[in-house]
Amino acid sequence: MAEKINVLLSEEEVGARIKAIGEQISKDYEGKQIHMICVLKGGTFFMCELAKRISVPVSLDFMAVSSYGGDTKSSGVVKIVKDLDEAIQGKDVLVVEDIVDSGRTLSYLLEMLRDRKPASLKLCTLLDKPDRRVIEVPVDYTGFQIPDEFVVGYGLDYDQKYRNLPYIGIVSFE
Ligand code: IMP
Ligand code: MG
Repeated sequence: MAEKINVLLSEEEVGARIKAIGEQISKDYEGKQIHMICVLKGGTFFMCELAKRISVPVSLDFMAVSSYGGDTKSSGVVKIVKDLDEAIQGKDVLVVEDIVDSGRTLSYLLEMLRDRKPASLKLCTLLDKPDRRVIEVPVDYTGFQIPDEFVVGYGLDYDQKYRNLPYIGIVSFE
C-alpha cells in the first residue's frame, strides 16, 4: 500500500510557532534554568528547534518509551526503553513531546517523573489531537491542535519513516 503525504502545517508555520513558544517559555522561566526532557524519538526535532529559541539557560536529557509499533493505533502499552541519564530532583523540568494523542504515554510518564520530585514539571507538545484523548493530561504549551488524522514529519513517523520531513503532513493510503 503506497502512502501519500499532504501538507498540513508548512515548515514556515511550524518554525514561526516554535519561535513564539520559545519566547513565551523564556518569559515564564525568567531567572531559572530549564531542564528539558525530550521523549525519543519523535520529540527530537522539536526539542532542538525549541531549545534554540529559548533565551534562559537549558540543560537536556532524553528518555524513550514505547507506545506505537508499525501501526497507526495506540497499543496502550507504555514501557521505558531508555531512562534519563541524570536525576531531576529540584530541577525545573520541561517535558518536550511530539504529539499528545490518547494521552496514555504522557500520563504515565508525568506521574513517574513527578515521583522523582522535580521543583516543577511542565509539558510542551508540538501537536495535540484533543479528539483522541482517553486520559486527561495537563498540557502547558501546545504548538498546534490538529484534527484526528495520522501525521508525519518534524520527528513524527509512520513505521519509522518520514521523521525528517521539514513540515507536518497527513498520511493517506491509496
Ligand atoms: P498517546 O500515548 O496515545 O498520547 O501517543 C503518543 C505517541 O504516539 C506520540 O508520542 C507518538 O509517538 C505517537 N503518535 C500519536 N499520534 C501520532 C501521529 O499522528 N503520527 C505519528 N505518531 C503518532
Ligand atoms: Mg512521542
